[in-house]
Amino acid sequence: MSVPHLGVGLQFNPELIGWFPFLDQPLDALEILFDSVMGPLDGPALLSPRSVDLVRDIADKFLLIGHSNYGGDFGFDDLMSTAAVRRHVPLAKKLNVSWVANHCFYSDASWSDVWSSPLQFSSAEVARVAARARALQALYGVPLAHENAAYYRTCPGSEMPEEEFLAQVLELSGTYLHLDLHNLYANALNHGANGYSIQRFMATIPLDRVISIHMAGGRWIDGQYHDLHDTQVAEAVWDLLDEVLSRARPGVVILEYETQALHCDGETLDTDRTTDLILSDLERARQAWDRAYGPASRRTTRNEAA
Ligand SMILES: [Fe+2]
Repeated sequence: MSVPHLGVGLQFNPELIGWFPFLDQPLDALEILFDSVMGPLDGPALLSPRSVDLVRDIADKFLLIGHSNYGGDFGFDDLMSTAAVRRHVPLAKKLNVSWVANHCFYSDASWSDVWSSPLQFSSAEVARVAARARALQALYGVPLAHENAAYYRTCPGSEMPEEEFLAQVLELSGTYLHLDLHNLYANALNHGANGYSIQRFMATIPLDRVISIHMAGGRWIDGQYHDLHDTQVAEAVWDLLDEVLSRARPGVVILEYETQALHCDGETLDTDRTTDLILSDLERARQAWDRAYGPASRRTTRNEAA
């Protein structure tokens, strides 16, 4: 399957419309969260009624890539009954997304109850998850990339490091990797004492299967580092981006923000200042991309050059 090389984009969360001027940005891609725009499983509609106009507007303006958090992709319900198959697959086709990334979490129809429940990194789960991933990618008809999760505790019964699990899944499934650099950073902070290593992670995963990247920030709360997406991109994550761009050839770098006002130096910023900081992160990501691949290597700059 072919992966277009797009450039730098943002994750779009409908909850944030009216707060950040998404539609005014010259983005190389916009990542849409299927869960946040889809119709409920017990209703007839693919899109929730309140999302119809919004989705039409962003689909008109942006090249879209898809993301699934709560699709039940790797849960234990019959795959054909999941939100991934019944909502996300038809949404991906309707919106003509270039690929879809999904989170490596357990989930079922109860959705957010299972947020941050990491997969069990075991041989049995490699086989089960890879079979579901292969089947799901075939249904999508575009590349499916799995996102490494930030998690608070390793799932009981795990037998191998996360990176070994992902490498084995990809080998069996023929799917791809969505590398969240802030999740790597958060796991290294929270699990470093138990042997979690970013260097070993990078040396183990097949970097040629990385098709998209997430960048974000977070905060320490009560001795635990949280992947909250409520700050600028963390400084250490920028260094990781340079390293990955020099060793891999992803299709996109996506920045994630989830709150209406970012935290900065212990202070909560107003929305104007928050917008400024996001725009400066976007510019910094574009500069990193251009340093790695050249000044006319992003979708928007290619169009300008042409
Ligand atoms: Fe992410």
